[in-house]
Amino acid sequence: MGISIGLVGLGSFGNDFAPMFKSHPLVDRVALCDQEPERVKFWADKEAFADKFDPKDAFAEFDAILESDVDALVIITQHWLHAPMSVRAMEAGKHVYCAVPLISVPDADEILGWCDKVVETAQRTGQIFMFGETTFYRPQTMYCRRRAAEGAFGDFVYAEGEYFHDVDHGLREVWTRRLGSRSGREHAKELEAYKRRGIVGGPMHYPTHSTGGPISVMNAHAVKAAALPFAARLHKDHCGETPANETALFRMSNGAHMRICEYREIGHRGREMFRVYGNQASFEHDTWCDKTSTTPLTEKDMRDPLPPEVQQAFQGFRALLAPDRSKLSAKEREDFLGGHGGSHSYLVHEFVSAVAENRTPACTARDAAHYTAAGAVAHKSALRDGEWFDVPHWE
Ligand SMILES: NC(=O)c1ccc[n+]([C@@H]2O[C@H](COP(=O)([O-])OP(=O)(O)OC[C@H]3O[C@@H](n4cnc5c(N)ncnc54)[C@H](O)[C@@H]3O)[C@@H](O)[C@H]2O)c1
Repeated sequence: MGISIGLVGLGSFGNDFAPMFKSHPLVDRVALCDQEPERVKFWADKEAFADKFDPKDAFAEFDAILESDVDALVIITQHWLHAPMSVRAMEAGKHVYCAVPLISVPDADEILGWCDKVVETAQRTGQIFMFGETTFYRPQTMYCRRRAAEGAFGDFVYAEGEYFHDVDHGLREVWTRRLGSRSGREHAKELEAYKRRGIVGGPMHYPTHSTGGPISVMNAHAVKAAALPFAARLHKDHCGETPANETALFRMSNGAHMRICEYREIGHRGREMFRVYGNQASFEHDTWCDKTSTTPLTEKDMRDPLPPEVQQAFQGFRALLAPDRSKLSAKEREDFLGGHGGSHSYLVHEFVSAVAENRTPACTARDAAHYTAAGAVAHKSALRDGEWFDVPHWE
C-alpha cells in the first residue's frame, strides 16, 4: 500500500512539484491545500488527478489539513512560514517535506531559534522531516558525495559556493507575488514591524543554495563565520537598508575553509553552484581534478540512478502541467527530471520513499539547520563589518 500526501502551498514553486508527487508510484492519495481557492481548483479540476484526488481532500486552511488523516505534508508556502508550519505539522503527527530555506525573516536570532525548534521537534516527535534543498540533488552534488564517500578528495581543504541572483532577474516579481496573497499581505505588516524595530535582514538569510552543496559534500558544519556587506547601488529601491550582497568566510568542523557569496546585485546571468577542494583531488566546473589529470564530466555521469519505475512515472508529469503535449518542445518532453538541475524528481522520490519505508531521509532537519544557520550568523557578522561569530551546530 502506498502513502497519502497533502500538498500545502500551490503557488509558483508548489505547482512544479504537485504533478511529480501525484505521479510517484508509491503515492496513493493526494490532498490539496492553499488559502487561494483558485490555486486548489487548478489541480482539483485536472482529469489527470482524478485517480488519486478526492474532492473531500481539498482544503483552504492549514488547520483543516492538519486534522485530516494524510500521512505527510509537503510545505511549499512562502519562505517566512516554513519552520512554524513544519513544527505544527510534526506536532500534529505528520511527516514533513519543507521547501527552503528553513525560514527567512529579517531577524537572524529568530532564524537561529527556529533552527533549534525544528530539530528539537523532529527528534522529539519522531516524525520524518526532509529539507527540499534543490542543490542537494544537483548532479554535481550527487557526484561529489559519491567521491567523498570513497575518500577520493583526501582531506578537504577549501570549498566555495555562490547564489548569484540579480534583483533584475525576476526577484521584484517574485516578491510582489509572494506578498500579494492573503498570507503575503499579513507578512507585509510584519515586515513593517521589523523595520520599526530597526531590524535589517540580508541575502544570507536565503543561503541554502550556496551553503548546501559544500556542507553536504564535506559532511561538515560551520563553526565560525565572518562576512562583509555590500550596500546596494543599482537596487536601492528594492533593497532599502538591506545589503544587496554578502560575502562570508567560514571555518568548518573538519578544519577546511568555506567561502560563500549571496549576491542580489551582480552583472551575471545567475548561478547557484559550488567547488570543493581536497588534498588528494578536487571538483570544479563539472571536472574532477587530481594532481596529474583532469576528467570532464557530463550531467549523466554525475547523477545517481533513479529506479526505472519512478523514472517512467515522472516521464508523464509534464503532460499533467500542459495537457496539450503538442505545445511542448522535444526537450521539454524529455525533461522529466524537473527543474534546478533535475533535482525536483530526486527530492520527490527521496521523501516519498523515506515515508513509505519509515526511514530517515537524505536531507534532514539537522542538515536544514546547518545550511540555514551558517547564513544567519554570517549576516550578523556582516552587520558588524566582518566580526567573527561562533556558528551553532546540531548533533
Ligand atoms: N530552488 C528552490 O529550492 C526554490 C525555488 C523557488 C522557490 N522556493 C521556495 O518555495 C517557496 C514558495 O515559493 P513560491 O514562489 O511558490 O511562493 P508563492 O507565493 O507563489 O506560493 C506560496 C503559496 O502558499 C500559500 N499559503 C501560504 N500560507 C498558507 C496557509 N496557511 N495555508 C495554505 N496555503 C498557504 C499561498 O496562498 C501561496 O499560494 C518559497 O518559500 C521559496 O523559498 C525554493
